[in-house]
Amino acid sequence: MAKQRAKLVVGNWKMHGRLAENRVLLQAISRGAEDLPDDVRVGVCVPCPYLAQAQTLLEGGRVAWGVQDISAHEQGAYTGEVAAGMAVEFGASYAIVGHSERRAYHCEGADTVGVKAQRALAAGLTPIVCVGETLEQRDAGNTEQIVGEQLDAVLAKLSVEEVARIVVAYEPVWAIGTGRSATAQQAQDVHAFLRSRLAAKGGDAADVPLLYGGSVKPDNAEDLFSQPDIDGGLIGGASLKGKDFLAICTAAVAATAAR
Ligand code: 13P
Repeated sequence: MAKQRAKLVVGNWKMHGRLAENRVLLQAISRGAEDLPDDVRVGVCVPCPYLAQAQTLLEGGRVAWGVQDISAHEQGAYTGEVAAGMAVEFGASYAIVGHSERRAYHCEGADTVGVKAQRALAAGLTPIVCVGETLEQRDAGNTEQIVGEQLDAVLAKLSVEEVARIVVAYEPVWAIGTGRSATAQQAQDVHAFLRSRLAAKGGDAADVPLLYGGSVKPDNAEDLFSQPDIDGGLIGGASLKGKDFLAICTAAVAATAAR
């Protein structure tokens, strides 16, 4: 019997949103999340300029908020960067680090991702560490090698106690924004591999929440979230629609009940 871990569903808005539409979306999510059981946690990672708005509209409710990246530096002459400590001042709980879009478009290497995870933890944020392979890497049979190396680069920088405080998201690059999700079995296989890698670190590392991301929609979420090693999702496009995002949260509830 698989171990029951709380589910976690986090929206990644990417570079979307404007004040007026955010208000409608955040209020809808906040209201809808009130009906969810305690063992389903919900978060949204918004663009930094909207952190204050998220704080105002979500404070005291069931939905946590966070950022999509943080600087590898604590503070200093790093034009355009946002420090983890700044996000914390706006009540943020989460920081996504190592998203494939940052790795691909901002030359973010495995070492930098590890440093960002350290920075997030030091500031009191939960890093959501993203790993994932490209289609080419999958077709070459290198998925485990790639995600294993990406994860190890982060684990190498953290103590056992720190590892227990992270979240890991498996996001196959070929499934992001393509409408082509990994099958539940494909995702489960990689999650089981990641969990074994975490378990090798010892302590509570094996119980780190493992999220799946990549074209999660209301109609495939329950199937994915019912897998023994999938503890929830990191949701892109569907997190911009209140109804869809809440339906995905509800699928997490159904998946928990079905296990
Ligand atoms: P989509 O859900 O739009 O495929 O994006 C996934 C993602 O990148 C979340 O971080």
